[in-house]
Amino acid sequence: MCGIVGYVGSREATEVLIEGLKRLEYRGYDSAGVAVLNGSGVQVRKAVGRLSELEKTLSSNGVHGGVGIGHTRWATHGVPNEVNSHPHVSFDGKLSIIHNGIIENYRELKNELLEQGVAFKSDTDTEVVAHLLAKAYDGDLLKAVQNVLKRLRGAYAIAVCHADQPDRIVATRMGSPLVIGLGEGENFLASDVPALLKYTRKIIYLEEGWLAELTTCGVRIFDADMKPVEAAVSETSLTLDAAEKEGYEHFMLKEIHEQPRALAETIRGRIEGERVDIGELQLDPEMLRGVNRIAVLACGTSLYSGMVGKYLLERFTRIPTETWSASEFRYADPVIDPGMLVIAVSQSGETADTLEALRIVKAGGARTIAVCNVMGSSIPRHCDATLYTRAGPEIGVASTKAYTTQLAGFVLLAAGIGRTLGRVDSAEEAKLVQGLRDLPGQVKSLLDEDIVAVKRCAKRYKDVFNFMYIGRHFNYPTALEGALKLKEISYIHAEGYAGGEMKHGPLALVEGTFPTIAIAPEGKTREKLISNVQEIKARKGVVVMVSTHGDEEARELADYLIEIPACQEELSPILAVVPLQLLAYYTATQLGRDVDKPRNLAKSVTVE
Ligand code: AGP
Repeated sequence: MCGIVGYVGSREATEVLIEGLKRLEYRGYDSAGVAVLNGSGVQVRKAVGRLSELEKTLSSNGVHGGVGIGHTRWATHGVPNEVNSHPHVSFDGKLSIIHNGIIENYRELKNELLEQGVAFKSDTDTEVVAHLLAKAYDGDLLKAVQNVLKRLRGAYAIAVCHADQPDRIVATRMGSPLVIGLGEGENFLASDVPALLKYTRKIIYLEEGWLAELTTCGVRIFDADMKPVEAAVSETSLTLDAAEKEGYEHFMLKEIHEQPRALAETIRGRIEGERVDIGELQLDPEMLRGVNRIAVLACGTSLYSGMVGKYLLERFTRIPTETWSASEFRYADPVIDPGMLVIAVSQSGETADTLEALRIVKAGGARTIAVCNVMGSSIPRHCDATLYTRAGPEIGVASTKAYTTQLAGFVLLAAGIGRTLGRVDSAEEAKLVQGLRDLPGQVKSLLDEDIVAVKRCAKRYKDVFNFMYIGRHFNYPTALEGALKLKEISYIHAEGYAGGEMKHGPLALVEGTFPTIAIAPEGKTREKLISNVQEIKARKGVVVMVSTHGDEEARELADYLIEIPACQEELSPILAVVPLQLLAYYTATQLGRDVDKPRNLAKSVTVE
């Protein structure tokens, strides 16, 4: 997820662009840049790192003009460096573009341009669009954009300017947000309203496929067929703080609700027809055939996604798979050999224990894959390949969208490696791919339906001192993750257990007011969970069940029933965790906790 801004008017464009980008840094902060038109061509300034680095660049090497575009980057293709930073410029140096999204077919378009002799500077998908636009430009920028859009597949919000038409910007969106701000003799565009609030409250929310041409005289809007559109103008009442959280009270709640988009982005371009496509990792089939064991290294929530990953990897690759808390692995004097494939999982890519564990396995000759949410962070840079979750910046300390996209990443890895090894048949793969395709919509429906039941449950039990979470097989890690979510933001003690362990001790805890969350979706261990619940009920325990829609037995048994859509059990951890995230959130907020910055914790544990 990146942030884009644009301005046409009589102010200094760079001031407006920087002000706007500051309000969008929550969308990405790997690098930033601006392009300004001032009669002497396209002037570009870029800097790696936070926006303050670009401000330093501009203070020593400024650029003046009233038309410009700006970008703050969350890298998806091409590591965060200056060359890969936006804006990108076409081969003739006349056209500049900024982009938020992913062009899925950029590789084939890039190959076509390379064959035509176009030289590329960056590794990004966006630069491909810059060159296509320059080739299509014949004096009408709007027409050039319209023509090139027909060739793009994926998600984009783009803004383009051309040295030969220095009075305008052309913008369009498909799958990524874009808003237009209307001023007097000046007009604006941005990924999101916060970037505009200082200058205007008159907002046009661009629809999918619409194109907009901004000049100082006004804004012309067209639909995908270039028919003029009379777009509605809204007067926004958003405050700046609320707008950065897009109206949500906390970043955590916003990120919980971003999961449908985050899952769609993570899956995008990695399923094709009925097959998984993780070709971007370039995993050598020979190397995979030589793998005799897999080890997943991670901490916290990322460890729990790795535990689900273990079940998935063994299910589909039939390679023995172990999971390690990286902090334990480091001191365990582990057995490492070149036949070992290590998967390091990390949202931040900077967790000290995971990084150190990675160094140990690399020294032992193991092959390494990262599953990470931050392009170019330390852990991916130490791995042979990386599967990036494209969840966008996760600001809340409690990990939510990173977790569910990690789970989707493991499904892709397990199926992709399994097929390479000939251990996944096409019917199984097709079923998984369809399940992945359905996920974003299912999570969206969950978020729309579940909140009332979860809020009621949170209100009822917010004052208890202990919670137990139980699950089995794929959802044993879900129990651990649900318990972690609750304890880290509400400060209520919570334990996650494998359901089969209850009789071996934890059942002794159960009494009248002791609540247990039982994660019991459709699947081969559901009956056993039901037995666990009956044992707890027989001892007057309270049970909240997370079950598949229509499970009447669960409805009879549960004191509170939270339903999730039917899905194959391999994908059920992704759906089952969402109500647990919400339960933790609403419990914590009802207790008045600082949800985004819980006490004693940090978003990224870069020290041991
Ligand atoms: C989870 O909600 C916590 N924020 C924490 O357990 C986190 O998952 C852990 O510190 C690992 O961080 P990483 O994914 O950035 O490596």
